[in-house]
Amino acid sequence: MDIAVLGTGRVGSALGIRWAQKGHRVFYGVRDPQSEEFQSLLDRSGPNAAVMSVQDAAAAGQAVLLAIPWDVTREVLDSLGPLNDKILIDCINPLTGNLKGLQLGFATSAAEQIAQWAPTATVVKAFNTVSDATMVNPWYRDQPATMFYCGDDEAAKAVIRQLTEDLELEPVDAGPLVNARQLEPLAALYVYLAIFGGWGGDCAFKIVKR
Ligand SMILES: NC(=O)c1ccc[n+]([C@@H]2O[C@H](COP(=O)([O-])OP(=O)(O)OC[C@H]3O[C@@H](n4cnc5c(N)ncnc54)[C@H](OP(=O)(O)O)[C@@H]3O)[C@@H](O)[C@H]2O)c1
Repeated sequence: MDIAVLGTGRVGSALGIRWAQKGHRVFYGVRDPQSEEFQSLLDRSGPNAAVMSVQDAAAAGQAVLLAIPWDVTREVLDSLGPLNDKILIDCINPLTGNLKGLQLGFATSAAEQIAQWAPTATVVKAFNTVSDATMVNPWYRDQPATMFYCGDDEAAKAVIRQLTEDLELEPVDAGPLVNARQLEPLAALYVYLAIFGGWGGDCAFKIVKR
């Protein structure tokens, strides 16, 4: 699949490298495509990856991963061309500056805001409850970490499920997009545990069943 990865920080590089290594074509969207700084990322991604402007990457991808901070999300979305028929993968956590809470919740979520700002795209909330370390290596002993996702379009969710399995994470369908109001606080709990609770980034949520 052709995947635009907007942002090449911890999440963009973790997911981009693994998808490219799995055979997907990955278009990294960056602010300065001419910069030499992306060579190492391209080397680690292999022949299926390219670096280009944020706008060109979004135009090239069938799926578009927003691996950018919440505070710039609207401005970046507004700068993109038409997103018709594209799946917008939202892994964003709208954390407060001190990382101890969320900027919004209860009556909406980042995912629902993004769906309003990009009405022609199909938004799926995914990858927001796992750390970048878990994206790189999802295995905890002999069990893969759980990756919750939610959205209103079953076909788009099937694509996300496959992209999750490609990473060897365990996909769990968490229902409609409105349930991002549950997944974003879950991620805030994760951030609390990882940063302030002494757990670090090498831990993950796992759903178990009898
Ligand atoms: N880190 C995690 O474990 C984790 C896990 C789940 C979800 N998330 C979410 O994933 C998102 C990315 O997190 P991260 O940890 O990868 O952040 P990060 O390492 O700080 O990377 C952010 C990326 O966004 C780019 N960016 C910033 N402003 C931009 C703009 N105006 N236009 C285009 N690109 C811009 C940055 O590019 P420059 O280098 O040019 O600044 C950088 O590549 C966040 O919303 C976060 O809540 C993070």
